[in-house]
Amino acid sequence: MFGLKEKSTNSESLSSKNVTIPSHKGISLSENTKSSQIAISDDEVKKLDSIYSSWGDTVHYSKDPKVFRGCEGSYMYDAEDIPYLDLQMMYSAANFGYRNQRITNAVIDQMNTMPQLTPKFLQPYKSLLSEKMEKMIEARFHEKGRMHFNVGGAQANEDAIKVVRNYTKRNGMFAFQGGYHGRTIAATCITSSFRYREKYGHFGDRANFVPFPYCFRCPYGMKCDSCNHFCVKQFARNFESEYKAIYDPKTKECEYKAFIGEPILGTGGYINPPEWYWKEMKQVLDDHGIMLVIDEVQMGMFRTGKLWAIENYGIVPDVMTFAKSITNGMNPLAGFWAKEKYIAPDVFTPGSAHSTYCSNPIGVRAAYEVMSIVEEQEKTLEREIQRKSTLFMKGLNYLKDKYKEVGDVGGIGFALRIELTQKDGITPNRDLCDAMQEEGLKGNLSYNGKKCGLVLNNGGFYKNIITLVPQLYITDAEIEMSIDLLDQLLSKLTK
Ligand SMILES: Cc1ncc(COP(=O)(O)O)c(C=O)c1O
Repeated sequence: MFGLKEKSTNSESLSSKNVTIPSHKGISLSENTKSSQIAISDDEVKKLDSIYSSWGDTVHYSKDPKVFRGCEGSYMYDAEDIPYLDLQMMYSAANFGYRNQRITNAVIDQMNTMPQLTPKFLQPYKSLLSEKMEKMIEARFHEKGRMHFNVGGAQANEDAIKVVRNYTKRNGMFAFQGGYHGRTIAATCITSSFRYREKYGHFGDRANFVPFPYCFRCPYGMKCDSCNHFCVKQFARNFESEYKAIYDPKTKECEYKAFIGEPILGTGGYINPPEWYWKEMKQVLDDHGIMLVIDEVQMGMFRTGKLWAIENYGIVPDVMTFAKSITNGMNPLAGFWAKEKYIAPDVFTPGSAHSTYCSNPIGVRAAYEVMSIVEEQEKTLEREIQRKSTLFMKGLNYLKDKYKEVGDVGGIGFALRIELTQKDGITPNRDLCDAMQEEGLKGNLSYNGKKCGLVLNNGGFYKNIITLVPQLYITDAEIEMSIDLLDQLLSKLTK
């Protein structure tokens, strides 16, 4: 296991059976799946895409985009049926495993009963989903609220912005440097990268971006054991005087009436703030009448070992958005929960936010099944993710001990990260990060004598962080395999 016995300073032994990598073609594919396997080569797929598809999405970030043909559990499969262990799981949209049979069955049942419905009418599962989600949230936050649905994480955030503007009558919001909230125009206003705004004119409602508590590279150059929570104090200083440009101490009005933040940075590198951070920030926000919108699009749905990542920090948001794994990546249903006072029918009135697909029956049904799974399994999920996260971290620490280029490892639950550096342990090493992703996708690794690949994703301020996002049901043996494959890549690509 991880070669720990021989090489690591970790003494506790980890035992698990060796993983048997499943062959996709051997797994019971339904007739539908078989018939959808159209005879076209990977080269032809790439050629047609390059000529007929827009290059405006992210496919062409890569010079040679990868083509996949199937997925199951923790794996994706290429045309040669080579399994690729997936440690990014559709950017955390498929937390419950690829082709999760129970969710697939629910979707098929919905397809066979009522797959389409004009969104101005009701259908049973929408009401049932609202009830289930609201009650689960209320049980955690001890606050009454309501659910609103739409499609996609960016749209959910756009709708949350409407809630804020409607209630506060102001446009300004605080957001994090390193935060990501989607790429629609409004979501781009609150996402820090100028890269996403650069080509699209003036963004008058651009957020006021606040440094994120990234302790390994503290934006204020502090050390975590002696910083005295400088980042929160620095934020609070904004309210000391009118000359800080955002606050009127006489009227106690702030130009920015809401703070939108990911509880843990996702695209920003799976960076979790220190445990005191959110409580102290929330106090500053409350003291100045500023709403808190928490974006759980990537970190929600047990990614961090709790249903919502913010639960790890003991605070309650005013509005909370979600998407991705709410349907296990089967359908772009998304939405938000808000405290009653912000979303009561006489406040957020009929027609305030709507789209043709906003509560489409297939998405709603998939989400209902996912939330039913969560309800039934939450205790086990909490316990098992915690246990397996510890196991994964042992492996990551083994890699940190072994390679100078692993500058830092960390995270919470199954939102883990490897920060790659030069041999000095601090200078970001984006080249190594890119090379590991490319090499993993070649499908030339080997485990238990079988050819396989590894699917990784990167993030971070310097794009030098491998973000580790396994499915929630990853086995101990697959965790062992993950560390072994990462070890193979590091050993091959570092000297
Ligand atoms: C935290 C967060 N918010 C919003 C979004 C946007 O979601 P979507 O891509 O569904 O629009 C993402 C996507 O990665 C995200 O990670």
